[in-house]
Amino acid sequence: MTEWWKQAVVYQIYPRSFMDANGDGIGDIQGIISKLDYLSELGVDILWLSPVYDSPNDDNGYDIRDYQKIMQEFGTMEDFDQLLVQIHERGMRLVMDLVVNHTSDEHQWFSEHPEYYIWGDQPNNWRSFFSGSAWEYDNSRQQYYLHLFSRKQPDLNWENETVRNEVYKMMRWWLDKGVDGFRMDVINMISKDQNFPDGAQGDGTPHFLNGPRVHEFLQEMNREVLADYDIVTVGEMPGATTEDAKLYTGKSRKELNMIFTFEHMNLDQGPTEKWDLQPLRLTDLKKNLEKWQLALYEDGWNSLYWNNHDQPRIVSRFGNDGQYRKESAKMLATCLHFLHGTPYIYQGEELGMTNVAFSSIDDYRDIETLNMYNEKRAQGVPHEQLMRAIYLKGRDNARTPMQWDETPNAGFTTGKPWISVNPNYRDIHAQQRHEQDSVFSYYRQLIALRKQLPVITEGKFELLHRDDEEIFAYVRNSADEMLTVYCNFSETPRELPVPEGRVLIGNYPAQKIQEMVLLRPYETVCFYEKDER
Ligand code: NOJ
Repeated sequence: MTEWWKQAVVYQIYPRSFMDANGDGIGDIQGIISKLDYLSELGVDILWLSPVYDSPNDDNGYDIRDYQKIMQEFGTMEDFDQLLVQIHERGMRLVMDLVVNHTSDEHQWFSEHPEYYIWGDQPNNWRSFFSGSAWEYDNSRQQYYLHLFSRKQPDLNWENETVRNEVYKMMRWWLDKGVDGFRMDVINMISKDQNFPDGAQGDGTPHFLNGPRVHEFLQEMNREVLADYDIVTVGEMPGATTEDAKLYTGKSRKELNMIFTFEHMNLDQGPTEKWDLQPLRLTDLKKNLEKWQLALYEDGWNSLYWNNHDQPRIVSRFGNDGQYRKESAKMLATCLHFLHGTPYIYQGEELGMTNVAFSSIDDYRDIETLNMYNEKRAQGVPHEQLMRAIYLKGRDNARTPMQWDETPNAGFTTGKPWISVNPNYRDIHAQQRHEQDSVFSYYRQLIALRKQLPVITEGKFELLHRDDEEIFAYVRNSADEMLTVYCNFSETPRELPVPEGRVLIGNYPAQKIQEMVLLRPYETVCFYEKDER
């Protein structure tokens, strides 16, 4: 099978916030269908859909009640089938979200097959990712069940072979329908240390991240399901190191194609948790990305991302969402898309959409944010301090509706949106994509270049100016091509030596290059050379 996904660019859709076709304020499948031409225009190859399955929406669909039914608010299975056909007709592929570390507590399995879940007579001290204990007492059973996420997301017991076989059966059902792969939610959490030891300060992660049988389970899944299909797989893996990644994605291992690392996303937080804020040091980011670039060059494969439905908007996070919004959005895109690996774009990133700051906590919807807020308020942490953290890190930053145009509610819905739109939608929206200097048209160029220049897919990475706190510069080299990428992560103008080759792409009007390359605030400029001998 060809490794077609190595040259692909993935676009993630968060259906609830993408496009509402029926005016109920919630995005839906017909809404997505109505925007497929927009996605073709951008040039992406694969669409990854966050969960569209039947769900009580405690965690916006990451709590699945029925794996083989479409969420009512999103439409029907007929709508889904139509979506799949239309995606394929446009030459794109569809990746589904596979959430099998846990189900909803409203899944039939939970009442009919309690043995599919994890029970204990006494809870250990593990904390849930969504605050509080990871164990919930069940009256009828008089035992506690484990839920690493909300109490409505009980963890499946992967030690139970029947559970695994049920999951494989369900996966085959979707693949037989024609979907082109899976993004696997927290898939490195499926194997728990069966002694369930307490964790230091309630942190259970050492006992279930990359747990004792995870590779065995993934190899089994590969044998039983994945190997029979020409698909792409990406595992979401908090706490996976480069060494883990080699095991998960190495060719001979027969597990997954790539994983999502969290390491580069955790550099602007303190040691305890994501709400513990800390400014990013560019040298940390460079060293970290370099490590991943080198580790997975010969074997295995990287996924490349700045954004998804769990992360704040990158232009507000590592860029400048005020005066230099467009420049920094394009610079960050360049820096990421020219690395070795498969790039992921999260809806709205291609417009340079920003974080949001709602004044009231009542405007927030995300269970992680709300649970954290309530828990810490009860402990006496001041409201202002919590709101500051939410503005910078909350997941709802990514979940405000897609900004399609400047009409009310950004053209996302004719009804009342389930979460408010970002008030800046009149200044940032998709109709601007036709403007020559739009962020959208820049993303389009980056995607098109990947199709034209093999060095972007294949070249070896080498970091330049390692200790510079403002400049991220690197080279990609293959036998006959060389790509040099210069990115200024600051407002300070800087000068760098002129590399070989011609200017390939940049985010400022062309400069006349003489002795040095001038990098203006958040400027990126890339040079390309091909050896024609
Ligand atoms: C990771 C998903 O990306 C996130 O949105 C979700 O809350 C958790 N896994 C639990 O499924």
